[in-house]
Amino acid sequence: MERIFINGGNPLKGEVTISGAKNAVLAILPATILAQDMCVIENVPRISDVEHMVRILHQLGARVNYINDTTLEIDTSSVNSYVVTHDMTKHMRASYYLIGTLISRFGRAKVAMPGGCNFGVRPIDQHIKGFEILGSEVNLSENAMIEVDATKLAGGLIYLDVVSVGATINCMLAAVRAKGLTVIENAAKEPHIVDLANFLNSMGADIRGAGTDVIKIRGVDRLHGCSYSIIPDQIEAGTFMVAAAATKGSVLIKNVTPKHLESITAKLIQCGITVEEYDDSILVKSDKRAKRCNVKTMPHPGFPTDMQPQMTTLLAIADGTSIVSEGVWDNRFQYVEQLLRMGANINVSGKTATVEGVEQLHGAPVRADDLRAGAAMLIAGLAAKGTTSIENIVYIDRGYDDVVGKFKSLGADIWRVDDEDKPTVVKTETA
Ligand code: UD1
Repeated sequence: MERIFINGGNPLKGEVTISGAKNAVLAILPATILAQDMCVIENVPRISDVEHMVRILHQLGARVNYINDTTLEIDTSSVNSYVVTHDMTKHMRASYYLIGTLISRFGRAKVAMPGGCNFGVRPIDQHIKGFEILGSEVNLSENAMIEVDATKLAGGLIYLDVVSVGATINCMLAAVRAKGLTVIENAAKEPHIVDLANFLNSMGADIRGAGTDVIKIRGVDRLHGCSYSIIPDQIEAGTFMVAAAATKGSVLIKNVTPKHLESITAKLIQCGITVEEYDDSILVKSDKRAKRCNVKTMPHPGFPTDMQPQMTTLLAIADGTSIVSEGVWDNRFQYVEQLLRMGANINVSGKTATVEGVEQLHGAPVRADDLRAGAAMLIAGLAAKGTTSIENIVYIDRGYDDVVGKFKSLGADIWRVDDEDKPTVVKTETA
């Protein structure tokens, strides 16, 4: 079992480069199946969720090669299966995008229910409703396999009852080769939805309106291969922004789209942190304790739920009392228990946390309960006095590319230990 250790207290200083967006690449990799051709995907983050998705593409018959560290060459002309088993999907939420792509390519799909982070009930009723409106028959078999018969996909009007990123993406994937016009209303507007639409259009699709709440897709007969570069990861960038603020550091965060970070920037400015925006980078600096502020998470362009644990961690050491309301997921405050072990003063009631800022957190052994909970533990450990050890870091590896190397390059005293069954020796690693 690997763990991350941090001797906290060093202000982060220097420059860091953000990797490609996890939630974009996890939609775009399965979408390559629609090309039946060669695609070259650049700016691919080196994270375990990508490894899992690449493995699934291999198992379905695709030829996938890394041309360099961050560029994948994917030939999907040889894909010959529409079955994705539980063993293939259990590590990852985004495996459900294979339903949309496989029905578009083969007219049928048999895909096991997805795995991924557990923050409350994660239904997929809106995905299923979309597939059915497009003419599919969907059945859930006894062994939790979703079986979809979609031999006559045809366009239709899909009104999503909740704003869902996953359902919007899956409906786009299923509609792209369906006969006629599909309109998705109340669509999600996240940057990775726009990125997927741009990718599909580069392959010859006809999609308009991505990034607004009405997306129109006119089905085309065939798509083709293309070269495409993934957008920068909004949440990785936001995590480094908050870490810079929490450690009273000064960090230039490169390879970002500042527009995607506006809701995070606005909250940090409200907390008294200095944020300077440039074309494709952002400077975050602070030399004093953050001020309190209230945060409510909402679908884009609201404050992202995937930044809620990191922001709550900053507010845990801010001056004053903040209220954090979770507006997307039912159960996304599990990680607070870990922050309490580090001396935070937070009271959770349902989907609201009351955060009484304390002067200082102290290091402690903690656990990453999910991916962004893991990011919160990193920020807490970096800002705390003393040593923090984080277990369950497989979650962090799912979505952060070389997170230890990146924080170390900013001056953090952070290292990984593969402790199998050895006793833990807490020590400070010297550079
Ligand atoms: C994606 C992200 C996840 C992020 C979330 C919200 C990926 C791989 N994951 O998850 O990191 O936290 O967007 O920004 O991109 N809902 C339904 N029925 C459905 C689908 C969703 O009721 O069929 C509800 C969910 O319970 C939740 C809300 O809609 O309350 C938003 O979920 P959704 O946007 O679908 O999240 P994911 O796509 O699973």
